[in-house]
Amino acid sequence: MRLDPASLTQEERYKVMIGAIVPRPIALVSTRAADGRTNLAPFSFFAGVGSNPMTLLVCPANTDTGGEKDTLRNAKPIAEGGTGEFVVNVVSHAMARRMAACAETLPHGESEFDLSGLTPVPSERVAPPRVAESVVSFECVTRQVIRTNPGAPNGGNILIGEVVLVHVRDDAINDRRHIDPAALDAIGRMGGFAYCTTRERFTLPMGRTALDATSPGAPPVLGT
Ligand SMILES: Cc1cc2nc3c(=O)[nH]c(=O)nc-3n(C[C@H](O)[C@H](O)[C@H](O)COP(=O)(O)O)c2cc1C
Repeated sequence: MRLDPASLTQEERYKVMIGAIVPRPIALVSTRAADGRTNLAPFSFFAGVGSNPMTLLVCPANTDTGGEKDTLRNAKPIAEGGTGEFVVNVVSHAMARRMAACAETLPHGESEFDLSGLTPVPSERVAPPRVAESVVSFECVTRQVIRTNPGAPNGGNILIGEVVLVHVRDDAINDRRHIDPAALDAIGRMGGFAYCTTRERFTLPMGRTALDATSPGAPPVLGT
């Protein structure tokens, strides 16, 4: 089947993307509004950008009516009316329910921290708090927002942040800076309401030796 995005509804395009781009890591993003209220929301259109400087991106889409979600409104640069800061908290399996609860749209003045029971801890280099339960948190200063369809319902936005401080739970990293995937126990988002764990893993070298390598759990070479 061939699908021309122009002949699909926005909902269908979204379904194809979230079903095919899997698994997606989840950024639980904390921000602070100009009036000091904190906000916490999950985003799975999330990726690293580069390590020099250490940069990541999160994509809070426009709302169904074309407005900005609170996360984008809060985290956009000061010059654009935001506070220019956010924290990305990585989501472990044990946090899954509380993370999903944070996708609730709350009335003005109510906090997702209270609703979910997740614990805010003061950050050190930015104003929004980090989440105590997260094994890894990235304190970020917003560098840029790229809007792919400003003001349009569900238009995409790329929020780019430079990481100014990383928090890692002591037992989850060694002195060679390897993060222990078992301690992190990250989950990913699949299509619909589905999630996956990162508990089944295999290793492969890069390049042509990948075709010959035998390692526990590694898949067969395609077609053999
Ligand atoms: C696991 C998960 C991943 C999500 N990923 C995204 C995403 O990448 N982009 C987006 O705009 N909304 C995403 N959402 C929905 C937002 O979390 C939801 O719209 C939230 O209410 C936004 O909060 P805010 O208005 O406080 O920023 C996701 C929800 C869940 C549960």
